[in-house]
Amino acid sequence: MLFKQPALLRQKLFVLGSLALGSLLYLVARVGSLERLQPICPVDSRAAPHTHEQIPLRTLQYKRGLLHELRRGNATKEQNLLHHLVQQLPRAIIIGVRKGGTRALLEMLNLHPAVVKASQEIHFFDNDKNYARGIDWYREKMPYSLPHQITIEKSPAYFITEEVPERIFKMNSSIKLLVIVREPTTRAISDYTQVLEGKERKNKTYHKFEKLAIDAGTCEVNTKYKAVRTSIYTKHLERWLKYFPVEQFHIVDGDRLITNPLPELQLVEKFLNLPSRISQYNLYFNATRGFYCLRFNIVFNKCLAGSKGRTHPEVDPSVVAKLRKFFHPFNQKFYQITGRTFNWP
Ligand code: A3P
Repeated sequence: MLFKQPALLRQKLFVLGSLALGSLLYLVARVGSLERLQPICPVDSRAAPHTHEQIPLRTLQYKRGLLHELRRGNATKEQNLLHHLVQQLPRAIIIGVRKGGTRALLEMLNLHPAVVKASQEIHFFDNDKNYARGIDWYREKMPYSLPHQITIEKSPAYFITEEVPERIFKMNSSIKLLVIVREPTTRAISDYTQVLEGKERKNKTYHKFEKLAIDAGTCEVNTKYKAVRTSIYTKHLERWLKYFPVEQFHIVDGDRLITNPLPELQLVEKFLNLPSRISQYNLYFNATRGFYCLRFNIVFNKCLAGSKGRTHPEVDPSVVAKLRKFFHPFNQKFYQITGRTFNWP
């Protein structure tokens, strides 16, 4: 008996060992056969020597130009796929304010490698005809970008157009909203200057600013004049706040963007949760132009078009004073709501 038991144990161990070895050999053979059974990628769906590496972002600034050209010439889906580029809805919109410095802000943010601008004002949400074309139409107006990049568009008319907040909310209730403002009276005069220039280009005469801004009957500020109404920022913002919490807005100081743009841009980078990438190198003051211009790299730099930074006409100081007094209480409310205070008179 004593002898028999270890023999039985040895036998059992032998059987178990054989089983384990068999299983192991089976697994090895299976893995091998699985490897051999891997489907061979059909030639046309195989990506070109796989480009997992990202397109260098700086290069993309130039590639974008090329891709826009491709798109105009009906680039194929494959061409876009090859570059891993997609058209994305904006994750941030510069909603206004007209003449606040909206173009400068967009162009300067576009210096950031993770930002891609929609060059044209799309006017999707403020124009009923465009809005009726649907969201796919809007998306198709967007530039090509890499999936992790942020597309930004600007249409300053959004800020003052009644229907826009609800429409944007329906597209994306967590979208980030940028509002760039200037001292309200200066902004109103800038607004007037733009319209005046348009009239002069068509050889038309136009009223003086004073006549439009002040009601001749009451001698009070004419709140029916659009350039005045647009500068009552708080009135417009209150409509937006029915849809979006105040945290979803970032107010940019348009006057400081003119004189010292970098700190303003750094605040926007923070608001957009982007790493700080725009540096003083990217912005240089051009004395001839009288404004900061943009430097992308050693060879590529640009200033904004001449239509940005017009000389304003002289305005009667008593009218300026009246307007400043008129805007004052609205400004106080604007500071209170936004938490951003300006040294406006
Ligand atoms: P003015 O023409 O009154 O000077 P918008 O792009 O919203 O129409 O704003 C135009 C304003 O942007 C201009 O108003 C100008 O002062 C301002 N601006 C800010 N930064 C600028 C820059 N770097 N180059 C040109 N204009 C700039």
